[in-house]
Amino acid sequence: MKKDILTIWDLTKDDVDRLIKRAIQLKTLQKQGMGEKLFSGKALGLLFEKHSTRTRLSFEAAMIQLGGTPIYISAETTQMARHEPVRDTARVLSAYLDALAIRTYSQALLEEFAKHCTIPVINALTDLYHPCQVLSDVMTIVENKGHYENLKIAWIGDGNNMAHSWINASAVLGLKLVLACPENYLPRPEILKKATEHGCGEIVVTTDPAPAISDADVVNTDVWASMGMEKEAKERKKVFFPYQLNQSLLGKAKKDAIVLHCLPAHRGEEITDEVLEGFQSVVWDQAENKLHMHKAILEALVQ
Ligand code: CP
Ligand code: NVA
Repeated sequence: MKKDILTIWDLTKDDVDRLIKRAIQLKTLQKQGMGEKLFSGKALGLLFEKHSTRTRLSFEAAMIQLGGTPIYISAETTQMARHEPVRDTARVLSAYLDALAIRTYSQALLEEFAKHCTIPVINALTDLYHPCQVLSDVMTIVENKGHYENLKIAWIGDGNNMAHSWINASAVLGLKLVLACPENYLPRPEILKKATEHGCGEIVVTTDPAPAISDADVVNTDVWASMGMEKEAKERKKVFFPYQLNQSLLGKAKKDAIVLHCLPAHRGEEITDEVLEGFQSVVWDQAENKLHMHKAILEALVQ
């Protein structure tokens, strides 16, 4: 049966551990010039409605390095933009492709694709979740800290798609996660409820960034206005300013804490240049790891 990754809930802890182990192996193999080309003749579609640098290019490079071919599909150039139903598009794309990565606004649209596609469907970001990013981020934690268990992971900023995927990851992997978000920008209650009821992780939500970051091993932030929220950016800047990840706030974390940001970053807004470029920042490894994690994901999903 085909397998999709629409949220982290589609994976077990064992699945994630296997993906991380394989991604780390693939990273070593690539650096030794020993990558395997298993995917000759196979094609990955990338159906994108939103901008992307890292996710698009890392999936494309992953597919090429595995011996297959990526096909980028700008959604606005397809007949979907002229109202061809998703179920029709999904069936047709399933005949041409071996897997489909989708970046779109609506999680429901992604789910509809998954329902009608006979090939694996991968969430390359929706308004609600960004699961593949968080998989690369957990890989980056494992590389730097050796494990993810019993680490305090702080999320400072918007209760957005990335925060939601961290909440899901906390439940699936048993992570200790503390999120500090402004009052009106908290993560969605139903996402928190499901994760909390699962009972594996420890998830705390607060509006105060200081206790959230205090003694953290991993500090995470993201843009204050995600794609699609550009009109709110000015208002958000005012509300989010106390949540800026600057050297003073980071000073409350453990001395050896690492800083994650999925990028693109807005220096001087959610993170200062000093922190982004500082010795605790692992954001460039984090971005590189998307390539290796996406290869591991494709290996696991594509038949
Ligand atoms: N982190 C991430 O998903 O970046 P892109 O928007 O550039 O793909
Ligand atoms: N939260 C951000 C992540 C970008 C990779 C957004 O959705 O725009």
